Amino acid sequence: MRLSEKITIITGGANGIGLAAVRRFASEGSKVIMADFDENAGKEQEQALRKEGYDVTYVQVNVADRESVDQMIGKTIETYGTIDILINNAGITRDAMLTKMEPADFQRVLDVNLTGVFNCAQAVIPYLIEKGKGKIINTSSVSGVYGNVGQTNYAATKAAVVGMTKTWAKELGRKGINVNAVAPGFTATAMVAKMPEKIIDQMKSVVALQRLGQPEDIANAYLFLASDESDYVNGHVLHVDGGIMM
Ligand code: CAA
Ligand code: NAI
Repeated sequence: MRLSEKITIITGGANGIGLAAVRRFASEGSKVIMADFDENAGKEQEQALRKEGYDVTYVQVNVADRESVDQMIGKTIETYGTIDILINNAGITRDAMLTKMEPADFQRVLDVNLTGVFNCAQAVIPYLIEKGKGKIINTSSVSGVYGNVGQTNYAATKAAVVGMTKTWAKELGRKGINVNAVAPGFTATAMVAKMPEKIIDQMKSVVALQRLGQPEDIANAYLFLASDESDYVNGHVLHVDGGIMM
């Protein structure tokens, strides 16, 4: 058990990569708060995972709303008494070419993918500082590292997440807190399923492994960065993309 006795919050934990991470972390002994906007999926998955014997609690949250985040943290403390690990995984896309992107869609992606990460980290940090140990893992993307057609808003947030990760690693290292990021490549979830088929095929062809990632591939990277095995890894951006650019 690599996370025994640990308390983990995973945002966006009701679907896709986040859900795979909830299962993976629970299987390694962590108690997990599945923090997600999607109440239907959250309640359903909580029940399914509990039936399998895992200690998982669904809490509804809108990461873009600071009050909602504070309530989610309050419920975490009420339920499990402490926090050890935060996985900032919730994210959305509103893809369009720059020429056609609606300002409201630009802003909405910033609110969730950027302000949401700030909100959750700032709300959790007092608990980690008090313990003198903790792990924060943020979710960037190949789009943030290399740019991507149709993703002005999304790529901006995912690049910004790298900047915040390195800044927090420098600010919080002396408090015993590691802050790292994972930059997934194209991974088989609802987010990618929305893409035109032709572009998915194009994306696969530039991946050295010639396939999409699976949610579990990303969950395993979260696990490494959350476990004691990565205690001397700080401010790192781990690319889990099958080899796109090397
Ligand atoms: N890479 C390369 N070329 C792309 C592209 C991409 N990602 N997206 C679109 N194009 C090309 C199209 O093939 C098309 O080329 P042609 O004119 O030669 O046919 C041209 O750009 C215009 O595209 P559309 O005709 O589709 O234009 P549109 O205005 O109708 O739609 C769009 C634009 C909404 C961006 C749509 O093309 C689209 O959804 N593209 C996919 C965007 C994408 O890659 N999103 C990633 C989602 S997954 C994710 O975000 C997770 C992650 O972190 C990677
Ligand atoms: P997904 O769409 O399958 O799941 C995202 C989850 O986030 C959903 O459960 C959704 O309800 C939740 N969510 C959305 N807005 C929220 C909000 N305001 N508050 C709380 N929860 C909210 O997406 P996927 O693919 O699992 O993505 C997870 C993370 O990985 C995202 O940050 C995404 O940007 C990132 N990523 C995904 C890649 C992919 O190819 N799927 C590639 C690179 C990064």
